[in-house]
Amino acid sequence: MFPHRAWRRVVARALRSREMAAGVYENPAGTWDLRAAIARHIGISRSVSASPDDVIVANGTQQALDIVARVLLGPGDVVAMEDPGYRPLKELLKALGARVTGAPVDRDGLVVEALPAEARVVFVTPSHQFPLGVAMSLSRRRALLAWAERSNAVVVEDDYDSEFRFGGRPLEPLQTIDSTGRVVYVGTFSKTLLPALRLAFMVVPPSLREAAHKAKFVSDWHTATMAQSALAQFIDEGAFARHIRR
Ligand SMILES: Cc1ncc(COP(=O)(O)O)c(C=O)c1O
Repeated sequence: MFPHRAWRRVVARALRSREMAAGVYENPAGTWDLRAAIARHIGISRSVSASPDDVIVANGTQQALDIVARVLLGPGDVVAMEDPGYRPLKELLKALGARVTGAPVDRDGLVVEALPAEARVVFVTPSHQFPLGVAMSLSRRRALLAWAERSNAVVVEDDYDSEFRFGGRPLEPLQTIDSTGRVVYVGTFSKTLLPALRLAFMVVPPSLREAAHKAKFVSDWHTATMAQSALAQFIDEGAFARHIRR
């Protein structure tokens, strides 16, 4: 159901955008228009409170996870993820030299008591656990945030397919419930649009912003400007919301 015609139109317009016309490198965090469009969209659709300054555009969730891991982890650091969990994440963490611990998942989501006390970062998929599909209960979400505060750890919330719902309101993201600035929220356009676009984003707390910008810069300077301009227009003109509804 990818809206090819609407996408061709915004790509053609993006080729003539002021960002492209400038002929220069972009801000590592992304074009202002796309960061503003994403901040507005997730404010409405996910009640995530973010300003454009908090948003960093990335080449897929995988790059967002890589940036967080590079900023927060050194070789030998302990990290936790769900077991069963997302294999590309596990491979990434192992490649960076982290010690990866799997925590079990039950009907309420990740079992918080099973998290190792020394974990510096925990990666979770609360909306729709990958691969089991359960939603993390509200009490578990609160327990996870309390654990993170006690352990001085960061929670990375991978919200990769929260748009796919057939009824009811979803539970609030960890990022929304958190009051201590310990959650990095990651969203992607791979499921709602196309994985081939490699377009995703992260909302980072102010304490991590500068380091995350630097990590994105040393990784690839920035995500392709034309794709960012096209997506910003696609969201701003309502085509994205219409596509999701359809
Ligand atoms: C848990 C999880 N996170 C994220 C993604 C999307 O990754 P990307 O944005 O890198 O395409 C997937 C894709 O299947 C996934 O299963």
